Amino acid sequence: MKIGIDKIGFFTSDLYVDMRELAQQRQEDPAKYLIGIGQKKMAVIRPTQDVVTLAANAVDQILSEADRQKLGLVIFGTESGVDNSKSTAAYLAGLLKLPEKLQVVEVKQACYGATAGLDFAQGYLCLHPEKKVLVIGADIARYGLRTPGEPTQGGGAVAMLVTTNPRIIAFEPNSAVAMRDANDFWRPLGESEARVAGKFSNNLYLDLLQEVWQEYQKTAGLQLIDFTAFIFHLPYTKLGLKGLRSLTSGNDLAINSQLFKQFEAARSYNSQVGNLYTGSLYLSFLSLLQNSPKLQAGQRIGFYSYGSGAQAEFFSGLLQPKFKEQIAQNDFKQILTGRRKISVADYESLYQQQVIQTTEHKLRTTEDLAKYVFAGTHESQRTYEIH
Ligand code: HMG
Repeated sequence: MKIGIDKIGFFTSDLYVDMRELAQQRQEDPAKYLIGIGQKKMAVIRPTQDVVTLAANAVDQILSEADRQKLGLVIFGTESGVDNSKSTAAYLAGLLKLPEKLQVVEVKQACYGATAGLDFAQGYLCLHPEKKVLVIGADIARYGLRTPGEPTQGGGAVAMLVTTNPRIIAFEPNSAVAMRDANDFWRPLGESEARVAGKFSNNLYLDLLQEVWQEYQKTAGLQLIDFTAFIFHLPYTKLGLKGLRSLTSGNDLAINSQLFKQFEAARSYNSQVGNLYTGSLYLSFLSLLQNSPKLQAGQRIGFYSYGSGAQAEFFSGLLQPKFKEQIAQNDFKQILTGRRKISVADYESLYQQQVIQTTEHKLRTTEDLAKYVFAGTHESQRTYEIH
């Protein structure tokens, strides 16, 4: 039985800050951010968006009435949760008015949450092949103003409808995993910004990539030549480039050149959005599909998922005959081009407002043109609006 992704939606803010301007304000050489880090633009999330509304706006693009009727499970991968008890999946189901004969759950393991969701969805669909599962990866990446992590912030949501007989990609049965109990990146309770050991996190990402790739090749009986493209979790796009260099080192130059071309297509959207933590790998997948015109059905894509703390997985999938029609529904290239650039001062002001508040407050929502918006907190409960 084939199981995989049938539809993908993506949503981010309509505002961004230009990385050249941010570098100038931080007295850094712009080439450090543009080439050394590999980021061109960074999404700035409005205070009237949280992970629930980001996800609702992403799901809204893909879910038909027929999908709603067959939905059995919603898995929300996030590390930017809005409540210590009630899951973001429950908030999302309420906001989208999903049918209530449904299981909803939030999954957390840093940037690995959505990948865990995809794994769990596959198990669920083996038992309930007629059902559909919604897997979300949504986050707002925050390290703090004027920190080394600042140019690697961003935010957004990817929504994936996982089904049997999927039209975009069918996952293959082999995957390889590795974990470490590591403090490379973490966010203590009550804090809104991540703590990070930057260099250590980079090294762990690359070490675990090698570990799961070696293991995957043994168990799947496949090698580099069997892949058309590799995609990576992209906290910033230069790290994925380093990952690809480490996989291709010593390999045939002609094959490598094709893989690096595919990587450029796969990093395009991420370089314009920044890190969206658990959605990042899947935004890169979408970027590959919409920016690499020569991809063909039947070709194999390798996925490297990494979440700090740390969990890594390498897995693969085969593109399905209708993948081009399925991803042509929304032109994200145009959506990203249509965003509005704001000044570094405006970004700093919005950044400071983007904090979880549990006290009574009402937000002015008229400036946010998204369909689903966060309106503030009333009697300790979060309130949402549909525009
Ligand atoms: P830094 O120390 O400011 O930067 O922080 P740097 O000095 O290492 O420079 C970065 C790169 O720019 C280097 O390239 C420089 O050479 C280059 P590299 O040596 O690495 O190839 N550079 C230049 N290039 C061209 N022209 C110039 C120039 N100057 C310098 N003039 C760091 C960088 C990534 C550490 C920081 O931004 C950070 O801490 N970011 C957050 C942590 C992070 O993203 N870690 C990634 C792995 S962990 C992960 O992926 C999980 C995560 O997504 C969270 C989750 O799982 O939930 C983060």
